[in-house]
Amino acid sequence: MVPAQVEAIERLVAEQRFDAVAISGDLTQRARTSEYKRAAAFLQAVERTSPAIAVPGNHDVRWWFAPLHLGRRAAMFGAWQRALRRPIEPVLRVPGVTLVGLNTSQGITPRTLTWNMRDLSVIGDLRPAQVKWAAAQFGGSPAGDARVIVMHHNPVKGELSRRHGLKHTPQILGAFADIDVDVVLCGHDHQEAIHEVLHTRRGTIVSTAGTVSSRSRGGRPSSVNVIDIGPAEISVHAMVWTPGTGAFHDGPSRCFAR
Ligand SMILES: [Fe+2]
Repeated sequence: MVPAQVEAIERLVAEQRFDAVAISGDLTQRARTSEYKRAAAFLQAVERTSPAIAVPGNHDVRWWFAPLHLGRRAAMFGAWQRALRRPIEPVLRVPGVTLVGLNTSQGITPRTLTWNMRDLSVIGDLRPAQVKWAAAQFGGSPAGDARVIVMHHNPVKGELSRRHGLKHTPQILGAFADIDVDVVLCGHDHQEAIHEVLHTRRGTIVSTAGTVSSRSRGGRPSSVNVIDIGPAEISVHAMVWTPGTGAFHDGPSRCFAR
């Protein structure tokens, strides 16, 4: 975490008064109590002007309490719930848009086991029941509301990492298309990206936020993504950290028909 960047986001939100702010996980580095305290203060600052939705990233999970989900599963998210006082799968409804948070950060599970020790607890997963639950949440919103999923792991390969963060990606993106998801907001890859995944029936826009830390990929600047959802189109533009000004400035953007 770079304090100047976090403070710049707090100022940006206060100035722009976004309809909603989505934080797609990894609010902490090691799920430490002190890191959660700063995350709680950040969310409080954001919510002075804009409603916020946040989901856990792999760094936010105390997976060691329940490796392979054997042990105290509830303790994996205990620090999140104590410090942030919000669910790990939240729903936020603002006029015209429903945002549903799904937890892809499930620690070490039989479905995400790998021989690569560095990836243990890092790989993301979603189960069909979670997608079904998201569909029910969208179903409770006015017809015509844009449908947005907020989750941590990237379902589209990063340009530099060449990796998906999420397992079972084709099935999950297909399931999102089936329940008419318009936009997926994610992070994890440490490189900003804007994609449209095309399906036979409809396309899904995937907005991958860059990191707000010193761990950006390939020396690229930190960034955040701003999404505009209109009746006919959806645009995503990256705002890029500019150290000289201590602020985020307009970067590349893409626009899609809705
Ligand atoms: Fe991550």
